[in-house]
Amino acid sequence: MDRMWWHKSVVYQVYPKSFYDSNGDGIGDLGGVISKLDYLEMLGIDILWLSPVYTSPMDDNGYDISDYYAIAPQFGTIDDMDRLIVEAAKRGIAIMMDIVVNHTSDEHPWFIESRSSIHNPKRDWYIWRDGATATLPPNNGESFFTGSAWERDEKTGQYYMHLFSKKQPDLNWKNPEVREEVYRMIRWWLDRGIKGVRLDAIDLISKPEKCINGNEGNNINGMEHWANGPDIDTYLREMNREVFSSYDVVTVGETSFADTKRAVAFTSPESKEMDMIFQFEHMHIDHGGEKGKWERVPLILVKLKSVLSRWQMELYGKGWNSLYWCNHDQPRIVSRFGNDESRYRVQSAKMLAAALHLMQGTPFVYQGEEIGMTNTLFDSIEDYDDIDTLNYYKKAVCEQGIEKEEVLQKIHWASRDNARTPMQWSGAKNGGFTTGVPWLKVNPNYRRINVTNALMDKDSVFYFYRELIRLRRNSPYSDLIAYGDYRQFYENAESVFVYLRTLGDKRILVICSFVKNEVAFTLPGELEGYKVSVILANYPDKKEPVKRMLRPYECVVVELL
Ligand code: GLC
Ligand code: CA
Repeated sequence: MDRMWWHKSVVYQVYPKSFYDSNGDGIGDLGGVISKLDYLEMLGIDILWLSPVYTSPMDDNGYDISDYYAIAPQFGTIDDMDRLIVEAAKRGIAIMMDIVVNHTSDEHPWFIESRSSIHNPKRDWYIWRDGATATLPPNNGESFFTGSAWERDEKTGQYYMHLFSKKQPDLNWKNPEVREEVYRMIRWWLDRGIKGVRLDAIDLISKPEKCINGNEGNNINGMEHWANGPDIDTYLREMNREVFSSYDVVTVGETSFADTKRAVAFTSPESKEMDMIFQFEHMHIDHGGEKGKWERVPLILVKLKSVLSRWQMELYGKGWNSLYWCNHDQPRIVSRFGNDESRYRVQSAKMLAAALHLMQGTPFVYQGEEIGMTNTLFDSIEDYDDIDTLNYYKKAVCEQGIEKEEVLQKIHWASRDNARTPMQWSGAKNGGFTTGVPWLKVNPNYRRINVTNALMDKDSVFYFYRELIRLRRNSPYSDLIAYGDYRQFYENAESVFVYLRTLGDKRILVICSFVKNEVAFTLPGELEGYKVSVILANYPDKKEPVKRMLRPYECVVVELL
């Protein structure tokens, strides 16, 4: 496989609404992102993925776009955007835009026209169907955000499809005019100087011809028909040809239904579709799988290891992985696979970082992850904002009659708002995020967990991330981390994750304990002859791990010489 610049890059995701508020209205904005670029430069990242900042009614915080060519006033102006691109470039940081084209907002002029009459030329730009009966939608398909995927429109009596909220109607990619408009828009952004795109929900763009019912047993009815539809590869290849092939740009697709085989089809250089994808298998291990997003299942480390290892092995030399624990849709990793109690938080956050960053692929860091931010605990549903959370609460409490307390408990753990609480910059009021009233409550632990504290403490999570980023980008281990092969040891061990990376005669072994009790560790027999040299550890004494007990959440990375 050819070597590409982004093989050694690290991406940092900014959720602008929660990053930094520069004008005191309680909402993060582009001015805020610009003012924190020095911080990101210090962390050492290469690419900044910006969640959507386009004009939007904000039903889904900007993932419902009503004008792809303009910036939402609460975030700033197109001049701010241009300034961000320039200022970031000065610090060696490229901008990756979030491209949301499975759907638009229902307030996008295209949809306003489309819904205006059956004969409107834009009618076919969205997915309209007659109901199955006078009162029933076309099929039993459900949306990701609870309830039917179909909304009846009074004007014409037909239903439109929305795989997300009813304010996010799905575009009809079958229509070549739609595709041409989408490509034109992406080119317009690339011409402004962005160097990357993240393609939102891109595995859903090809819908099957027939409007058949979904399998009732599934977590979300109908998804088995909508994900990876019949023309998915054709559209992606066309988009690549028409748009990306003329630019030096990196693309990552959000594909929640991809298995490794699909991933190779999407990301192998021969396919000419995308550079990498976000897979979800490792995120579905403790929730979001068969039982649905809101039911928590205990983490079984052996399963997690086997999923991660399978992705490492099956994409090796064929496609390219993205590596992530966190984003704006996932609860915080330290509260999830780590331990957010005070005495374990720092160690477990570092351990998780090492486990992820030393695999093959391009790592993504989500704002706040680099200081070990945790899930939050809102007392009341009133404090939540996320449309997905609110829809679920309504359904569970009002329709299914589940106790409020029980529902809130599930929400505490799984809500996307866990990731969206404002960035904790300092111990000042509101974590230094805003001088006004924050749009979403700041996590009360900001007095302890914040950037100012992290920067003052040489043993903080922040500096550990910085070191991992440096190792990948610019160290004697860079080639090995990017291109070395991968092999897991102790597959069946319930508490430790151990893997070896090898390139030529260079090897590193990554040893991570996922538990708070001590566990015995012995260097695998076949590695015994090597000299062990510690290159990174999350306990200050950097003790060699040849044969000894591993401490709570300990990780040690060693070179075998
Ligand atoms: C993606 C985004 C998510 C959004 C959805 C609809 O999954 O990451 O935040 O709600 O698509 O655009
Ligand atoms: Ca603001």
